[in-house]
Amino acid sequence: MGESTAARDFLPAAGRAPLGLYDLAVAAGMRERTFRRSLVAQVLEGRQGLDVVDVGCGTGTLAIALAAGGARVTGIDPDPRALARAGAKPGSPAVEWLKGHADAIPLADASVDRVVLSLVLHHLSEADKHVALVEAARVLRSDGVIHVAEWTKPGDPLMALAFRGLQLVDGAATTASMGRGELPGMLAQAGFTAIVERDRLRTTFGRLALVCARCA
Ligand SMILES: C[S@@+](CC[C@H](N)C(=O)[O-])C[C@H]1O[C@@H](n2cnc3c(N)ncnc32)[C@H](O)[C@@H]1O
Repeated sequence: MGESTAARDFLPAAGRAPLGLYDLAVAAGMRERTFRRSLVAQVLEGRQGLDVVDVGCGTGTLAIALAAGGARVTGIDPDPRALARAGAKPGSPAVEWLKGHADAIPLADASVDRVVLSLVLHHLSEADKHVALVEAARVLRSDGVIHVAEWTKPGDPLMALAFRGLQLVDGAATTASMGRGELPGMLAQAGFTAIVERDRLRTTFGRLALVCARCA
């Protein structure tokens, strides 16, 4: 299921489907404009010059939108093919792209104002989810905020069916805890406080929650 790089495995953006379908699937199935616009507004709060790291940035759409909104953005992903797609998009020179993993973010302690994990945690093992959140806390400044866009409890049969479809593509092992709504507890376990669900959207792949939290 995972894809091999020289040193590490990871589940690529489109899971078992070809990477080239990822942007199409997000645009067609995830109310992308609504979801990205809401997330960008929550992250930036109208402020300019924030240092933002988009961990698991994939094909870069969100990182580029954050930079266009006035943030200094670093986009990190283990997949060189996704980074190549990101780097070819209009607006990409405004973002610094780095190859790296969420459980070893290649940034200094207390060096960013915002960490964004958009649709990434459900690609990680349970142990790596925890380490990724601890890493996010490490790189955040004391008044920093983490923003997570993730699948949550479906809440009704239609969303449960949609989430089953997502699990066929990304696998059940890493997605199940998200579908049980365990994200807030994971954030608390990693030391975050003031955990708030800011938005919730119905999509073709299940119910998506936009959650933010502060460093303790
Ligand atoms: C569903 S995509 C999300 C991409 C992007 N954040 C977005 O909102 O469209 C999940 C991304 O997580 C990346 N990923 C997988 N394992 C990772 C890890 N251990 N650390 C960081 N990123 C990882 C994949 O390469 C992929 O680009």
